[in-house]
Amino acid sequence: NVHPKATSVTEFEKVANEKLPEFVREYFGRPGEGGQTYRDNCEAFKRYRLIPRNLRDVYIRDTSVTVLGSKLDFPVAIAPTAVHKLAHPDAEAATAKGAASMNTAMVLSSWSHCSLEQVAAAAPRGVRWFYLLFYRDRGRMKRLLERAEGEGYTAIVLTVDQPLFNFDRIINMRRTEPLPLQVSFPNIWLDDDAHGQPGSAEHLAYLKKIVKEAATWEDVEWVKNNTRLPVVLKGILSAEDARAAVDLGISGIYVSNHGGRQQDGLPATIDVLTNIVRAVGGEAEVYLDGGVRTGTDVLKALALGARCVFIGRPALWGLACNGAEGVQQVLQILKDELNLTMARSGCAKISDIQPSLVVHESYYLY
Ligand code: FNR
Repeated sequence: NVHPKATSVTEFEKVANEKLPEFVREYFGRPGEGGQTYRDNCEAFKRYRLIPRNLRDVYIRDTSVTVLGSKLDFPVAIAPTAVHKLAHPDAEAATAKGAASMNTAMVLSSWSHCSLEQVAAAAPRGVRWFYLLFYRDRGRMKRLLERAEGEGYTAIVLTVDQPLFNFDRIINMRRTEPLPLQVSFPNIWLDDDAHGQPGSAEHLAYLKKIVKEAATWEDVEWVKNNTRLPVVLKGILSAEDARAAVDLGISGIYVSNHGGRQQDGLPATIDVLTNIVRAVGGEAEVYLDGGVRTGTDVLKALALGARCVFIGRPALWGLACNGAEGVQQVLQILKDELNLTMARSGCAKISDIQPSLVVHESYYLY
């Protein structure tokens, strides 16, 4: 279990990295190409400074928010990440328990080891969203949408910044390096699919056959028209895409560069947030992930217009260190830090966190 004195997300990162086997550490950390975007996500937050307001009554603070109609105790939720079994044997069931124990939301990845039914059973009262892959066969998509709806998931997340999965590269890599532990993908393998085992050439050929790469707006529209749940687009970085999504009736614009794991050389998410919030004009909720490591980062993202932020790797570090409890500890740290930074900034409630609280450091140049 994690060192009892771990009091920050970066300490969890350190302990997790000491604990995890090298191939997992690399997989979790892996930035795209040169890692510029990965580093910039974290560093960009530090280029914004807070201008606190003093002498306001902040003795009692309320960090709660409503996100797509669900009340969360604080505006930090868990981003979809693949195969939590690599971090902990209890996998996504543990992550869901950790999130639910803190009364916040979790997005379950399609690439999860636990089925969406198992995750629902593990944390029945938790707020759960489902990240649906695009498939060539729409009947398959419909069945997954119905499963998610039936199990009480309250939003569908479509990841739109991953047009290609590089299956060929994965096939080549895995031939020399089989996965050292048993994982399954019960949210992808449907009933009688002949899917092979992860890591095998057969499995990758199967994925290549069923997964739809290079999805378009038309696929998004189909999902929108075939579920009663609100749809969130994850991976939006431009005002144009944000606007097009809103015009299509999308409920959530999730600003993300995939934690720097896809294309390198993309801007830090915090740097594009303002532009997107302006384009959306209050017609949808706006979220952000990428590089959120402290409560101050959360406050800055909220000040610039995010309704809620998501954490990817920090939740995996918590899970790796302490299972469900570790996820809870990481979330608790961020909640406590947000609470403190709100007090110090003159904010008693989330709606007090306004754009005027934050300036970009370039401001000082003028
Ligand atoms: C991811 N991410 C991701 N995103 C997604 O839409 N579907 C997925 O299956 C995955 N899988 C995944 C695996 C791992 C190991 C990581 C680290 C990330 C991206 C994730 O949702 C999120 O955008 C980033 O992780 C956010 O950045 P931070 O918080 O990790 O800095």
